[in-house]
Amino acid sequence: MFHTQDCPELSFHFYFPHRIVDSASRNSTEEAHVQTTAYDALYIPANDTAWFPYGPNGCEAQLINADPTTGQWIAKLRGPAGASLGIHRHYGSVIGFTLYGAWRYLEHDWVSRKGDVVQETPGSVHTLVITEDAEMLFIIEGALEFLDNEGHTLALEDWRSATDKYRDFCASHGVKPIDVTRPRVVSHQRIAAE
Ligand SMILES: [Fe+2]
Repeated sequence: MFHTQDCPELSFHFYFPHRIVDSASRNSTEEAHVQTTAYDALYIPANDTAWFPYGPNGCEAQLINADPTTGQWIAKLRGPAGASLGIHRHYGSVIGFTLYGAWRYLEHDWVSRKGDVVQETPGSVHTLVITEDAEMLFIIEGALEFLDNEGHTLALEDWRSATDKYRDFCASHGVKPIDVTRPRVVSHQRIAAE
């Protein structure tokens, strides 16, 4: 079996790789710009963006955050009893949290109620139905693929298309949009979209 102590130079590289880089190509002035402190907590207002109709079956969405660097988007969904989202497939994982009311997936027996958490897995396919007036928070990684009953792709939804829907709604209703892709502020004020 190979041990790093058999090769002093390699062992040094394993435990102190930054020193090799520093000595080879960096001077002390460049190193001063390396981020070595933690960022402050990021405050993301969750009530300052307009709700807009989402899909053809009575749901509304509120886009809270859309991160172009990770593809994660955070949104609330709400609707009256009987509202639904079409069948869709997830490309990434999703955490859902029920704020009030009740909803379920047609493909499962459980019903999610206030305080419940639902973990949706990459590749899972399901049809969301609201069974009592409900509002939910979803933290979504990557895209959703909406499907027809034969499994054909109807549309893809990701951080960018969701942001476009929000901005289109604002433009058509005379609402000044918030730039949900830049929520990292230290005050309560977010940046208005240009
Ligand atoms: Fe889903």
